Amino acid sequence: MVDLRHHGDSEVGHGLLDFAVNVRDRTPPRWLAERIAASVADLAAYPDPAPARRAVASRHRRTPGEVLLTAGAAEAFVLVARALTPRRAVVVHPQFTEPEAALRAAGHPVERTILDGDFALDPDAIPEDADLVVVGNPTNPTSVLHSAGTLAKLARPGRTLVVDEAFADCVPGEPESLATRADLPGLVVVRSLTKTWGLAGLRVGYLLAEPALVRRLAEVQPLWSVSTPALVAACECSSPRAVAEADAWAAELAGRRARLAADLTALGLAVTPGARASFLLVRTPGADRLREALRTRGVAVRRGDTFPGLGGDYLRIAVRDDETNARLVGLLAELL
Ligand SMILES: Cc1ncc(COP(=O)(O)O)c(C=O)c1O
Repeated sequence: MVDLRHHGDSEVGHGLLDFAVNVRDRTPPRWLAERIAASVADLAAYPDPAPARRAVASRHRRTPGEVLLTAGAAEAFVLVARALTPRRAVVVHPQFTEPEAALRAAGHPVERTILDGDFALDPDAIPEDADLVVVGNPTNPTSVLHSAGTLAKLARPGRTLVVDEAFADCVPGEPESLATRADLPGLVVVRSLTKTWGLAGLRVGYLLAEPALVRRLAEVQPLWSVSTPALVAACECSSPRAVAEADAWAAELAGRRARLAADLTALGLAVTPGARASFLLVRTPGADRLREALRTRGVAVRRGDTFPGLGGDYLRIAVRDDETNARLVGLLAELL
């Protein structure tokens, strides 16, 4: 049984060069940190999510009633697990393990659909009578991006389809995002501000769904769950200027990712093709030993064996700046 509650942050010890956690380098940007800091002046009042709801709705061309701010994407999974009583919940793996952990913690049985090979999603592999399906896009840890058309085929009346888009803004223009799709029944799109904006410690994300479902999920959310600084961050990160900044970063990320993938491939590591997020999934026999060796040389990469469907031969490597990536590649060349 794999440890569903293992996450990359526990692999980054003091002083280690971090290729294990997928938060963007040198974040939050100064302009954002300053606005969040300024919100401290308003902490005497209870938080009001209305402006953030409007800002997020406008960013995704939805209505405020289709938006629920959450304490990170992680809280959204807990709300889904609390509010729904699925008869047949299916989680598509390998993927981020918290959705399954939250469902299990709420007492729901969970089935897994395991993708293998190139980790492409075949909608026919999902049991027809599944009334809750959870899938990531692009997926952590594979970095694979499923098409909007493939995902849309999974939506149907009587089923809740949760699409975890925590890394969607790694893809310029977000062409495969379902965030704007108000037409798909039972769709819940979960977004995070943690990764691109470097706000892991603030806890801010949101979900988008039809208003009746948003109301059900809001009913099981602790009151004032999302703090005023987090709501300010949600407003700021939803502005056209912020979205353009993220998009420019995503375009530049693509080049660095391709160069790192080529370098790792040249070393004989099998890089999962089609990577579209801020990390690469790499397969090599004895990956665990390699990870330990990297650790003794001051570098942390994410183990693969705690993701259902991956074994001890996988590592996940965050894409950093070219210089930092080159340090990792140099070290790997020595070790391999
Ligand atoms: C795919 C995915 N979804 C959601 C989350 C959780 O994000 P948040 O910090 O917004 O709770 C993570 C964090 O690692 C993740 O990798």
